[in-house]
Amino acid sequence: MNKKNLLKTIRLAKQTLKDEKFLGYTDIIFSAPKIKKSNKTNAPEPEIPAVPLKETPVPVFKGAKAKKLSEIEAVVKTCRLCRLGDSRIKAVFGEGNPDSKIMFVGEGPGYDEDRQGRPFIGRAGQLLTKIIESIGLKREDVFIANIVKCHPMIDPKNPDLRGNDRPPSKEEMACCMPFLLAQIDIIKPKVIVTLGNSSTSTLLETTETISKIRGKFHTFHKTPLMPTYHPSALLRNPALKIDVWNDMKLLKKELGL
Ligand code: URA
Repeated sequence: MNKKNLLKTIRLAKQTLKDEKFLGYTDIIFSAPKIKKSNKTNAPEPEIPAVPLKETPVPVFKGAKAKKLSEIEAVVKTCRLCRLGDSRIKAVFGEGNPDSKIMFVGEGPGYDEDRQGRPFIGRAGQLLTKIIESIGLKREDVFIANIVKCHPMIDPKNPDLRGNDRPPSKEEMACCMPFLLAQIDIIKPKVIVTLGNSSTSTLLETTETISKIRGKFHTFHKTPLMPTYHPSALLRNPALKIDVWNDMKLLKKELGL
């Protein structure tokens, strides 16, 4: 093999190992197992163990942007604009670097987030942290927010029940939208990544499903927006990981990371 071909083979091998690491393989796989792809979103959530707080330290930031964000956070914490405010334990404003180039926008807090007042802290959050690390960043380098700031529950009288989650309604998302818009306006990210159908359909004002519109950049108020699968969807269907990995590669390219 000549030097050029050898270098090409090494590059390819490196990329393959990176891809496989992202997909969760810890051994070298010579032929990947075939996993059936499905976009089912109504499969039951796996049991979610509580995440020890110390594993995800709270990032603290100072400066003008952080101050502006904390002013809005104070409003969110006492917000009663929609009924989610009646049943929440803690509002979840979002957290991260106010100067981040990337803003991740999820759907809404779940059981763990409602208790800790922090976004993406449960099992889906652990996976999101891994996704962020796969592009060479740390969780505290980016800003993580949600389309609604309070936990949407199927039975609001039962906040102590795990699995009591539902997607936010259109009205709830519309009520909370000014907070997200203010966050985007302050942070001014270079790229927004929407996670799942709720945040994607709301920001892009589309009824297209995530599987149809992911894989390329769209625009939200002149900011490039990359829709990708929600980490919970990856927990239910690991075969979707490859699509998220490909989306993250496009994101890295866009940001020159
Ligand atoms: N799912 C979300 O969409 N957001 C969170 O903060 C946690 C889980």
